[in-house]
Amino acid sequence: MKVISNNFLETKRLGKQLADKILSCKNKPIILSLRGDLGSGKTTFVQGFASALGIKKKILSPTFVILNKFKIKDRFFYHIDCYRIENIKEVKSLGLEEIFKNPNNIVLVEWGEKIKKILPSNTIKIKFEFLEENKRKITYEEKDICSD
Ligand SMILES: Nc1ncnc2c1ncn2[C@@H]1O[C@H](COP(=O)(O)OP(=O)(O)O)[C@@H](O)[C@H]1O
Ligand SMILES: [Mg+2]
Repeated sequence: MKVISNNFLETKRLGKQLADKILSCKNKPIILSLRGDLGSGKTTFVQGFASALGIKKKILSPTFVILNKFKIKDRFFYHIDCYRIENIKEVKSLGLEEIFKNPNNIVLVEWGEKIKKILPSNTIKIKFEFLEENKRKITYEEKDICSD
């Protein structure tokens, strides 16, 4: 699926729409891996996604924190940014593998390609590309993550 976003609100809206679709999948971990250069819109997408989960706190880029965790009704939402991750040992110390296995977790990973070795096979991959100042191309596979 290829989408052209003409401004940041459209990217937020796409995040919200995908969240609404994905939320119907229960009792399975939900993992989205977001790739694209700095400023391509990954965090903006996460903000829209989080709003669909009823998260009111501001979603910032967790570049320095790497991991933010939010409690939502009966599940947890994780926003992870792997920009600063340099080796797989760091990933182990953060316990990411356990996070990816827990069926109560919804996890969005910026720079997910840096940890692709440990991403589950049903991870939804989304690519963000800068076209013009306010224009981005967003590409993702339409798959039913609940089916595998
Ligand atoms: N169509 C668009 N989609 C997403 N962000 C956009 C768009 N047009 C302009 N922007 C701006 O680009 C920046 C994207 O930043 P951010 O979402 O933090 O990117 P990343 O997390 O990929 O580094 C924001 O300042 C946002 O307002
Ligand atoms: Mg970001």
